[in-house]
Amino acid sequence: MANRLKGKVALITGAGMGQGRAAALLFAKEGARIVVGDINADAGNETVALIKQQTKSDAVFSKCDVSKELDCRRLVKAGLNGFGKLDILYNNAGVLWKSIDKSVIENTEENWDKVIGINLKGPNFICKHGIPALLKNGGGSIINIGSISALAGSTIPQDAYNCAKGALIILTKSIAIQFAKQGIRCNIIHPGMIDTPMQHVYMKNPQWTKAVEDDIPMGRFGKPEEIARVALFLASDESSYMTGAELIVDGGFCAK
Ligand SMILES: NC(=O)c1ccc[n+]([C@@H]2O[C@H](COP(=O)([O-])OP(=O)(O)OC[C@H]3O[C@@H](n4cnc5c(N)ncnc54)[C@H](O)[C@@H]3O)[C@@H](O)[C@H]2O)c1
Repeated sequence: MANRLKGKVALITGAGMGQGRAAALLFAKEGARIVVGDINADAGNETVALIKQQTKSDAVFSKCDVSKELDCRRLVKAGLNGFGKLDILYNNAGVLWKSIDKSVIENTEENWDKVIGINLKGPNFICKHGIPALLKNGGGSIINIGSISALAGSTIPQDAYNCAKGALIILTKSIAIQFAKQGIRCNIIHPGMIDTPMQHVYMKNPQWTKAVEDDIPMGRFGKPEEIARVALFLASDESSYMTGAELIVDGGFCAK
């Protein structure tokens, strides 16, 4: 199947690398024009260049720290200025800072605020400014990226991250219910361990990597494209009766 997103415009946060870049390239190959948002301008501009080289589609970049409301508003505006409408909001940007995000009894207020700011306030701001654009357009699809960390506690605590991702589940459902009759669908994907720059810092430790792989029924990390393909289904009209749903994509980790 090709052109599954023909004529659509997709805004993707954190599209400079990892899962966000994989989704940006896949969505563009399927006919969508892409609004790339990232805090890292070099990475975001590189994604735009790759889209132009590898696909027949188009893309624009706007530098955006999703924890800042004005940046999110500017990203939405960049999409509207560039392509005249938005059909898909993909809240992918996130940070896992195991060095500063630890147990509830250790986390500083500053670090808690930073982690919650990016992982939870970010999707909130993108929805706040993006939903009016979707409504003008008769609806659309919102995809939030959660985590299996939202479904079970971590043996080594990362409490701010897990709380942010957990709260994103109920934000997803609330948006799904509020806007269902106006044609907006909102779903959340929970990735398992995915081989992206986020994990590369930890994957440098072969013992850690082996232990993680041994704990996954499929015995391996997922690829960013394996999340992007699920997101493509949610972004496309093929999932037209799905809203408020949680999809776990984790090589069987949560099935244990
Ligand atoms: N990789 C995993 O194992 C894994 C597992 C579960 C969930 N997730 C989630 O998947 C999503 C994508 O993660 P990834 O693995 O591709 O990570 P990544 O670190 O490889 O890429 C994240 C991207 O987000 C950007 N970014 C970081 N902070 C930002 C900010 N404040 N504003 C805008 N952009 C920002 C980065 O520059 C980068 O381009 C995240 O929400 C993450 O929490 C990842």
